[in-house]
Amino acid sequence: MMLPLLRRLGARLFAAVRRRLAPTQSPEERYRDFNVRYFSGLHEQERMLADRPRMEFYRAAIQRHIQPGDRVIDLGTGTGILAALASRRGAARVYAIDHSPILKHARTLAAANRIERVEFFDTHSTDFSVAERVDVILHEQMGDGLFDEAMMANVSDLRDRLLKPGGLILPSRFEFFCEPIKIRDGRHVPFIWELEVHGYDYAALERHRPQDPDYYHLRSSDLALVEHFLGEPAPVLTIDLHTVQEAELPHEITFTRKVVNAGRLDGYAVYFRALVDDDLSLGSGPLDPGRAPHWGFRVLRTDREDFAVGDKIEVRLTVGRWADMNSWRWSHVKRAGGTSAVGEADGIVSAR
Ligand SMILES: C[S@@+](CC[C@H](N)C(=O)[O-])C[C@H]1O[C@@H](n2cnc3c(N)ncnc32)[C@H](O)[C@@H]1O
Repeated sequence: MMLPLLRRLGARLFAAVRRRLAPTQSPEERYRDFNVRYFSGLHEQERMLADRPRMEFYRAAIQRHIQPGDRVIDLGTGTGILAALASRRGAARVYAIDHSPILKHARTLAAANRIERVEFFDTHSTDFSVAERVDVILHEQMGDGLFDEAMMANVSDLRDRLLKPGGLILPSRFEFFCEPIKIRDGRHVPFIWELEVHGYDYAALERHRPQDPDYYHLRSSDLALVEHFLGEPAPVLTIDLHTVQEAELPHEITFTRKVVNAGRLDGYAVYFRALVDDDLSLGSGPLDPGRAPHWGFRVLRTDREDFAVGDKIEVRLTVGRWADMNSWRWSHVKRAGGTSAVGEADGIVSAR
């Protein structure tokens, strides 16, 4: 009699303990933990520091736009490089914030390089405050998909709480691209159900399309991967962090590309350009020889479809949360020679 009762009680106790220990984190909290771990390693920091176009862009932006005497927040200081450049430019005070343990190295480096007027804060930016509003928010919070390092949330929080009216966010203007591409034949990896290998046909696997959105993303920073854009590239979204509100970003973007380079559509390359002046910008585009090399670009994979010059690709990108690329979905309609619709294909067909 007693044994089953004890067993049941034990099972309930175990389930209650497991529920208490189970992660109840929001997606934002989970990403925050990942970000802390990701940037605590020296290798990620050295990849960014060795990225010459990136470092030259920031050096020039700071030299041109930070004025001697400015008070500056460096959001996500990492090894402290942008804070150091701002201090050398003559900033009166730099508040250098980072939530990752990398900050201890930033302190060491600032001392070793005799950097003055930089104060380090080992905290998440949303927990940071200062009595007097600042002149400049300096940041490098751009992910491969521009928004996926929580740039919008982090920068706009500091902007609204701690930036003087008329203060500067550096960089603030961004173009976001989502361009139909053809991948080089020797490098193209089709979906498994599109394959036939020595007469062995994989089409039967189409019924088993993975539900995991990540399967439909290809990550690369290899300039040799993309053969060409099918159309003329143009930004599909532009933002200015001085004014944009995250809640105002669209959840659906539709755009059309007239095909100027014929070929197979393999997916959409997602990349960005940060703009400071007409002659000062930084891009991660896959066909840009001056691209900042440490950023990858994402390819949102599509089912194979061939296009001729003059065809049109009507693309629809829907976004749950811009910061979460796994919440993005995409589809297209092909209009042959710019006339009637002849086909429709989706990125994540079965995961919608
Ligand atoms: C892309 S790295 C840039 C590092 C440095 N600014 C540079 O340009 O080399 C972003 C840094 O921001 C930090 N970070 C990201 N989000 C943060 C937040 N909300 N508050 C504080 N630190 C943050 C990360 O730990 C990481 O060190």
